[in-house]
Amino acid sequence: MSPVNASTTLVDSHCHLDFPDFDGRIAEIRSAMQENGVTHALCISVNLADFPKVLRLAEDYDNFYASVGIHPEQGPESAGVNTTVEELVSLARHPKVVAIGETGLDYHWHKDAPEWQRERFRLHIRAARASGKPLVVHTRDAAADTLRIMEEEGAGEVGGVMHCFTESVEVAQAAIRQNFYISFSGIVTFKNAAIVHEAARGVPLDRLLVETDSPYLAPVPYRGKINQPAYVRHVAEKVAELKGVSVDVVNSATSDNFRALFKL
Ligand code: NI
Repeated sequence: MSPVNASTTLVDSHCHLDFPDFDGRIAEIRSAMQENGVTHALCISVNLADFPKVLRLAEDYDNFYASVGIHPEQGPESAGVNTTVEELVSLARHPKVVAIGETGLDYHWHKDAPEWQRERFRLHIRAARASGKPLVVHTRDAAADTLRIMEEEGAGEVGGVMHCFTESVEVAQAAIRQNFYISFSGIVTFKNAAIVHEAARGVPLDRLLVETDSPYLAPVPYRGKINQPAYVRHVAEKVAELKGVSVDVVNSATSDNFRALFKL
């Protein structure tokens, strides 16, 4: 792993360590985190069939946390996608479950913008409000509907994070006005991601998070490889460069924001 000049620690706010890519690799993943000063990781649920595996990671390791929810790419025919507000609230009662999601809208993979996505998103927001836990929101090619539904359902009451942010600085500001944080992934290290670079410059430090979205979206210099939480260092380094601040400033701001948002 290439060295990054920083003395401070940081946090991966979004990863999928339950995915098969990591089977039998957790010890190795954890020692790479430690070597790179990555102190905590939030393991994100994408459906209820796989949620027990996500929760087990959070139960087995002090510095892993879990979310509970159903990803908007998971169609009605997928396993573990039918739920209720009551079920999500009950699963979110576990002390290591710190968020509801990932939920949201994705019209990139579902170009017909199906009603079931919006209904399921509303259900997650209601569960977040009922449980008092923040939301992890995925939005792709659906920013206007995402912000509208957040507003209509009062998502700002619990707040949350717009994860793997790829929208404009205006969309970021609209989400911040609704009490949300903005999380950047390895995409911010890609040369052609001008809109994401501008968004990273525009998001204030006190609303900023960083993530890997492992196993996807490995940052430069690992682009195309299997991602892992240790690589969040490279995301923070790029965000610092774009904002013209030291990486230590980004590391400590994003660590503080992580603790504040997820009430740790
Ligand atoms: Ni994700």
